[in-house]
Amino acid sequence: MIIAPRGTHDILPSESYRWHLIEDKIKEICLEFGYKEIRTPMFESTELFERGVGDTTDVVQKEMYTFLDKGGRSVTLRPEGTSPIVRSFVESSLYAQPQPTKLYYLYPCFRYEKPQAGRLREFHQFGVEVMGADTAAVDAEVISLAMQVFSRLNVTGIELNINSIGCPKCRSAYNEKLKAFFKPHLGELCETCRQRYEKNPLRILDCKVKSCKAIYNHAPVLLDNICEDCAAHFEQLKRYLEVMEIPYQIDATIVRGLDYYTKTVFEIISKNKGSEGTICGGGRYNGLIAEIGGPEMTGVGFAMGLERLLLVLESLDLIPENLERPDIFIANVGEQADLFVQKLVYGLRNAGISAERDYLSRSVKAQMKYANKTGAQFSAVIGDDDIAAKSASVKNMQTGETDNVPFDHLAEFIKTNTMTR
Ligand code: HAM
Repeated sequence: MIIAPRGTHDILPSESYRWHLIEDKIKEICLEFGYKEIRTPMFESTELFERGVGDTTDVVQKEMYTFLDKGGRSVTLRPEGTSPIVRSFVESSLYAQPQPTKLYYLYPCFRYEKPQAGRLREFHQFGVEVMGADTAAVDAEVISLAMQVFSRLNVTGIELNINSIGCPKCRSAYNEKLKAFFKPHLGELCETCRQRYEKNPLRILDCKVKSCKAIYNHAPVLLDNICEDCAAHFEQLKRYLEVMEIPYQIDATIVRGLDYYTKTVFEIISKNKGSEGTICGGGRYNGLIAEIGGPEMTGVGFAMGLERLLLVLESLDLIPENLERPDIFIANVGEQADLFVQKLVYGLRNAGISAERDYLSRSVKAQMKYANKTGAQFSAVIGDDDIAAKSASVKNMQTGETDNVPFDHLAEFIKTNTMTR
């Protein structure tokens, strides 16, 4: 038997309605906030992520699905959504339009990580990116959008943590401080962090190795070392969050695992039993657009893992029952009825009704048993007499009540009587 690759997950027909539920809600919210959907290819040239995400990050060093295509080009399955969107923003000259550009995306990403609950090798992100505006009002807007998703889905027990990691100006002075701090501990750091010490010491603060953590826990705090501009931007962000009454905490240890961040960074974590951890992460990336070859423009966004969001909904018992079911099941008796029902079902579907019929030449009893299993709200059994009378007895499967309904009025009858249209 061939099985699915490790770290991947089939979304089976019994589960897909959960995805529709959250995706529909997300699309609704994005529309209200004025974000338009963008879709980019599932793979990009490897260089994009090396430059965008950064070649000292775990994502680029350890987690990318990279291969040579038949033309000998190095391509990578996208490990995250921001760099491809910035690439598209630059390539399609979206920067020439009135700004800001407000985009959202719902798509799979790929990272070669050790699979566990909430960590997959193929996972799905909902993300937003806003380009072309530096005001903290936009940072606050994207955060408020993420928080809306949780509140609209009735999620409780989540926490918003914010931080500022400054700009290249304040960071270069801080990097020197960090290097001075780590110098006496170089021998105790892991191999990767020793390389990071030279190239990008800030990355050490994101290392998951315990012995490195024990050291960097005492390192100078970046938030205490940001420049005036960055500090003012951060203060402004807090004010915007406060006027929207969005509770937050400052967590000066957030550095994020990707290199492009400047100023605001944030994470939304679940404290709920069975779904603890980071569900959403994001921040500002003011140098990325220029790094990818575009103009000096700023950006800010976030991504949330949909598998993790679903875990949270499950842990809080917030997933409603599956309401994707036929409005009506139409059973048939005899050859003439078989043909008639084919036409009737087709006509109902044309009229926007979800209608189902038997395809296995079952007995009437077996057809009705199957109708029950489909969860259909109504059923009808059509025989020669009904065809002659141009009407059928339609049964409400829940109450058992029946109504005699002319075929001409069947669509109308179902539309007015179904519970979830
Ligand atoms: P990230 O923190 O790497 O940020 O990922 C965002 C979210 O994707 C995580 O909080 C998590 O919910 C989900 N996620 C990441 N890796 C996995 C995995 N292996 N399995 C399941 N879920 C996962 C980014 O990707 C940035 N591009 C976010 C961003 C957008 N920043 C600015 N704009």
